[in-house]
Amino acid sequence: MKRRRAFKAKAVPEMTLLRQELFRQARAAMKHAYAPYSKFRVGAAILLEDGRIFTGCNVENASYGLTICAERNAVFAAVSATSKKPVIVAVAVINHRGVPCSPCGACRQVLAEFGPRATVWYLGPKGMVERPLQELLVDGFTLCDPLT
Ligand code: THU
Repeated sequence: MKRRRAFKAKAVPEMTLLRQELFRQARAAMKHAYAPYSKFRVGAAILLEDGRIFTGCNVENASYGLTICAERNAVFAAVSATSKKPVIVAVAVINHRGVPCSPCGACRQVLAEFGPRATVWYLGPKGMVERPLQELLVDGFTLCDPLT
């Protein structure tokens, strides 16, 4: 009689699961985007040091310039819900078109305020990119050194 080989689940690295969960939540947030002008929906999820995840979507405005990106809204949501200064360890950004979209310069600067050592995942021209925020924002503005 043929013996069935026991099914062995492949070990999925913790980082992969984490990334998947962040993207799942970023995608869910993206569905709430208010983007009647650009029609470009973005969602972001940030993971804090304490394990909590916060999300944001882009919210546009008729004045255009008052538009806020998904990433910044995720950071502001975290700050609004936290009594201590939140520490961001990872960020995932997604858009509904599945096109390359890295965090804009303003968002990089805001992310650096709370997560100078954060890992950022986003879609690049050749697919998923994982990059430390420190590489995305070189010589960002700082009044004090958040790395110390
Ligand atoms: N947007 C984001 O939400 N995040 C980014 O990193 C880049 C751009 C939004 C802003 C605007 O609502 C739309 O994408 C088009 O620029």
